[in-house]
Amino acid sequence: MSAQPMIDIETLFQPTHDERARQQFVSTLRKHAIVDLRNMLKRDYEGRIEPALDARGESPQDWHGVERAMEKEQSYRFYSAVRYNAQEMSFLSVQDPVERALPGMIEVAKDASARNPAGGSLRIPANFDVPRYVSALDVHLVPGSFNAEYTADDVAQGAVIWFGSKVFAGRHPFRKMPGAVAESVAQWLRRKHPGFAPRRILDMATTSGKNLLPYKTHFPQAELHGIDVGAPGLRIAHAMAEAAGIPVHYSQQNAEQTDFPDGHFDLIVSSFFFHEIPLKSTRTVLRECERLLAPGGMMVHMELPSEASVGAFENFFWNWDTANNAEPYYTTYRAQDPVALCAEAGFPAEASFAHAIPDWATFGEEKFERYLRGELAAPPHGSGGWYVFGSRKTGAA
Ligand SMILES: C[S@@+](CC[C@H](N)C(=O)[O-])C[C@H]1O[C@@H](n2cnc3c(N)ncnc32)[C@H](O)[C@@H]1O
Repeated sequence: MSAQPMIDIETLFQPTHDERARQQFVSTLRKHAIVDLRNMLKRDYEGRIEPALDARGESPQDWHGVERAMEKEQSYRFYSAVRYNAQEMSFLSVQDPVERALPGMIEVAKDASARNPAGGSLRIPANFDVPRYVSALDVHLVPGSFNAEYTADDVAQGAVIWFGSKVFAGRHPFRKMPGAVAESVAQWLRRKHPGFAPRRILDMATTSGKNLLPYKTHFPQAELHGIDVGAPGLRIAHAMAEAAGIPVHYSQQNAEQTDFPDGHFDLIVSSFFFHEIPLKSTRTVLRECERLLAPGGMMVHMELPSEASVGAFENFFWNWDTANNAEPYYTTYRAQDPVALCAEAGFPAEASFAHAIPDWATFGEEKFERYLRGELAAPPHGSGGWYVFGSRKTGAA
């Protein structure tokens, strides 16, 4: 190990005054679409559109009916156009400063993987086969998706997603901290299972590792691993973890079939993952989780609320991404019962769960404790809560 400190790759991102102004505008526009216009749309539906449909004897039977009715409405068209453009501009607005900083960012990432000052590692195999469901489309409107590489040791896509996500979430009232999902899940796990002390933790589809790092604070004894099929994000993730002094072992791997031995992990987590992959792959990944967990080990996946868990209007709202956000598996994933998916993968039904937990950062400790005592409900997913599902493998920990 070397005593030379790592440069924090984030300090190399230096938007101009005008670029920063544009990013701030996009953050505000995105919050306006996803919070204010969403609420406006719901009021318009419930107050005007639904009563008119009821009066004509055309009440929607399900979310498809809501969608058919809303597609004709100016309020929906306006909301949808604003949301689409805010999404696209979140990533476009950081491309120029990333491009200017790229040579320096690549050098920092290479330095991190050569020295590993915090004791982590980075494994990027030659000729890795990125699945077409990631490489064939610009997933959630990120030009180049998670995997594109334009130069040797490229980190550009990782940086665009990292900084673009900050623009995307910048004004969102329930995304107060990076790693909010991991912080909430870790706080929940520690309270629900006080004796649980995982030796190894795996974050599947880690992207840039932001929902992996918080586990080190909560489970300091654990060895952290993060896998993803996108190399540029892993390079950024590794450089940031090393600069923060947190040892993490990152590797480019397909979660459907990893090279870890059976029973290697006590905790497997993921966030925002399954809705982006085909259902067949979701089933394969869950079977891989079953193989990778040690007896008594747990998996906790943060995902979108299932179709059965919310009403028709909410389903219409959530499934917008399928046709409008280059996320073609969204609706199919949401139509599944997560507990049944766990059972199909070999997990015991009685140990499986699917429900929202509160967002730690916005709910606060006192209310979180009351939620655990059953005195308060968790807010819905995306509005102060996170929907999670998972299970525990049979056997003693
Ligand atoms: C929305 S991002 C996940 C975000 C991240 N977990 C977080 O909380 O910041 C989806 C990620 O899934 C990765 N991915 C897609 N298919 C994968 C697979 N089969 N194995 C591993 N990673 C995969 C993509 O490369 C992308 O980084």
